[in-house]
Amino acid sequence: MKAENRKPKIAGIVAEPQRLSEVTTISSARFTTGINEFDRVLGGGIVPGSVVLVGGDPGIGKSTLVFQVAYALSQRTKGLVLYVSGEESREQIKLRADRLGITTDKLLLLAETDVEAIITAVEKIEPKLLIIDSIQTMYDPTYPSTPGSIVQVRESALKLQQFVKGRHLPMVLIGHVTKEGSVAGPRTLEHLVDVVLYLEGERYHETRILRSAKNRFGATEEIGVFSMGQQGLSEVTNPSEIFLSERKKNVPGSVVTCTIEGTRPFLIEVQALVAPTVFGYPQRRVAGYDLNRLQLVLAVLTRRVGLKLLTKDVFVSVVGGIRLSEPAADLAVALAIASAEKDKSLDPKLVAIGELGLAGEIRRVAHLPKRLAEAKRLGLSQTVQATAIGQAIKETLG
Ligand code: TYD
Ligand code: MG
Repeated sequence: MKAENRKPKIAGIVAEPQRLSEVTTISSARFTTGINEFDRVLGGGIVPGSVVLVGGDPGIGKSTLVFQVAYALSQRTKGLVLYVSGEESREQIKLRADRLGITTDKLLLLAETDVEAIITAVEKIEPKLLIIDSIQTMYDPTYPSTPGSIVQVRESALKLQQFVKGRHLPMVLIGHVTKEGSVAGPRTLEHLVDVVLYLEGERYHETRILRSAKNRFGATEEIGVFSMGQQGLSEVTNPSEIFLSERKKNVPGSVVTCTIEGTRPFLIEVQALVAPTVFGYPQRRVAGYDLNRLQLVLAVLTRRVGLKLLTKDVFVSVVGGIRLSEPAADLAVALAIASAEKDKSLDPKLVAIGELGLAGEIRRVAHLPKRLAEAKRLGLSQTVQATAIGQAIKETLG
C-alpha cells in the first residue's frame, strides 16, 4: 500500500512518530462539570476529546444523570451543550427538564438518529459537549443493517468517535445494558471508548452508584453515590449516614462493616437470616455479596467454630444496593450469620472489619485507621479484639 493512501487511524491525528519529550498532554485541561460525584468518578472532570460511555439497565436513571450533567456544564462554560436523543422527542425531554426544574438557552436538544445528520449539526453548532442518548438508537446510513444491530452500534460509535477526536470535543454516549447478554450493548464498545461508567442500583431503591469500569485518564476504583428523588438525582456526600439510616438496632443477624470504595470509607449494614432447611438441599442466597465468598465463610463457621449450618438455609444481604466485594467484609458476614443462628443481637455500636482465613484466623485489612475513623464519626466505637473467629463470636455474642 502506498503511504499517501493510508488513512490516519484517528481523524485529525497524523500517523507520524514524535519524540516523547515533545508530546504535549491535554489532561491538565480537564473541565469539571459541576456535579462533583460525576467528576470524581471521571478522575477530576472530562478530558477534552474523550469519549465517555455511561451504561446501565433501562430505567435506572442514565438519561436523568447525563441531562443533569449537561445542564450543570452548560452553566459553567461559554459554549453550548448539544443533547441528541434518539429515544425521546424534544417534548419528552422538556418534560424531564421541567421535572428537574431546569431551563436554559445554553442546552440544545436534537431528536435525531442518523449519525451523519448529527455530525452536520455539530459542525454548525460547535458545542462544548456532545451527548448521544442512546448509542443503540443511532445508525450510519452507509451500512445497510438495522439500527440497534451490533454493526450499527459499533459503526455509529466509531464514526462519532473519529469525528469528535479530531475536534477535541468530548462526547458522552449512553448505552443500555441488555438483559440478553448485552450483545449489542455497551460491552461491545468498551474497548473503543476512553472511559466506561456504569450506573447501578435497584430500581425500587433510591440509591444509585456510578462506577467506573475503565478509565484511560484516571483510577477505576472511585464511585459516585446519588439518590433518585422527585427532582432527579442528588449527590450523596455522606453515604454512611444514608446506608445506616434505616437500620434497626438490636436485631439478630445485623452487623455494620466499613468498606473502602476508591478512597472513601463507607459504613454498610450486612444482614443475615438462618432458617432450617425444610426440603432437600440447603439454600445459600446473597444480595450484594459474593456467593463463593459466602460458601467459604460458611465452611469456616462450620469446621472451625462448630456452628450447625449444614441443615440450614442461609441468606445474606447487603443493605442499600451496594456490592461488598472486598474480603474485609468477611468478619461482618460471619458475625451476622452467627448472630442470626444464635438469635442474639450484637452491640449496636459494633463495627466488624476483617478478612477470614481458612484456619479461622482474622486478618488485618488495608486502610484500617481510615475505616475506624469513619466508624467513630458515626458513633460506632466497638471493635472486635479477637484474632480468631471462634473467639470473636464468644466475645461479641457470649
Ligand atoms: P431515566 O433517566 O429515563 O432512565 P434511563 O435513561 O436509564 O432509562 O429515568 C428513569 C426513571 O427515573 C423513571 O422511572 C422515572 C425516574 N425519575 C425519578 O424518579 N425522578 C426524576 O426526577 C426523574 C427525571 C426520573
Ligand atoms: Mg434514557
